[in-house]
Amino acid sequence: MDVFNAIRERRSVKHYDVNARLSDQQFQQLISSTLLSPTSYNIQHWRFVRIQDRELREALKTAAWEQSQVTDAAELIVVCADIDAWKDRPERYWADADIDTQNLLVPMIDSFYRGKPQLQRDEAIRSCGIAAQTLMLSAKAMGFDSNPMIGFDAEQVADLIKLPDNHLIAMLIAVGKASKAARPRGGQLAMDDVLFTNGF
Ligand SMILES: Cc1cc2nc3c(=O)[nH]c(=O)nc-3n(C[C@H](O)[C@H](O)[C@H](O)COP(=O)(O)O)c2cc1C
Repeated sequence: MDVFNAIRERRSVKHYDVNARLSDQQFQQLISSTLLSPTSYNIQHWRFVRIQDRELREALKTAAWEQSQVTDAAELIVVCADIDAWKDRPERYWADADIDTQNLLVPMIDSFYRGKPQLQRDEAIRSCGIAAQTLMLSAKAMGFDSNPMIGFDAEQVADLIKLPDNHLIAMLIAVGKASKAARPRGGQLAMDDVLFTNGF
């Protein structure tokens, strides 16, 4: 599917066919595609938790205001981030680059993020947001629907997935086949309301 069609056709789908599945190959394709998303300094803060256990899905549904997507979609992915990724073996992020590039960029990561907790957290969220959109557009291109979700109790979800220290939960994403189409679009702002030239 053409990327513009995927963008147009992706909608937040709330009702899922409980019998639909992604094959292992399709799931691998979905995540492989997602992992090509851009991140600042190539830090790749994202960590994905695939929820396959049915009881855990039920518990997550309770923590997510009983939203049926949590249990009914073929896949439920908790998109998390390691806030400390900037300082965890940063040489990994440039391992395939030439030595000059490594020597330039790896030390820059430390000087850019050290002592700036707000920036460290913002960066982790930014990375996850971009990855989430890649995941949802990839799902659409593969013939699947999705729903990003922030409607959940973050502490309960953190407990359920055993979220490590210095990690955050960016969102849940349900992926599967729609059993009911999304509602008509809520109303997009006019371009004039959101696009400015040379500043506000
Ligand atoms: C970060 C984020 C969190 C969202 N949380 C929920 C949610 O908890 N439940 C839900 O039904 N939809 C949720 N949505 C879907 C939005 O309502 C939806 O994206 C918006 O209305 C635009 O519709 P569209 O995605 O179909 O274009 C969320 C979307 C985003 C990006």
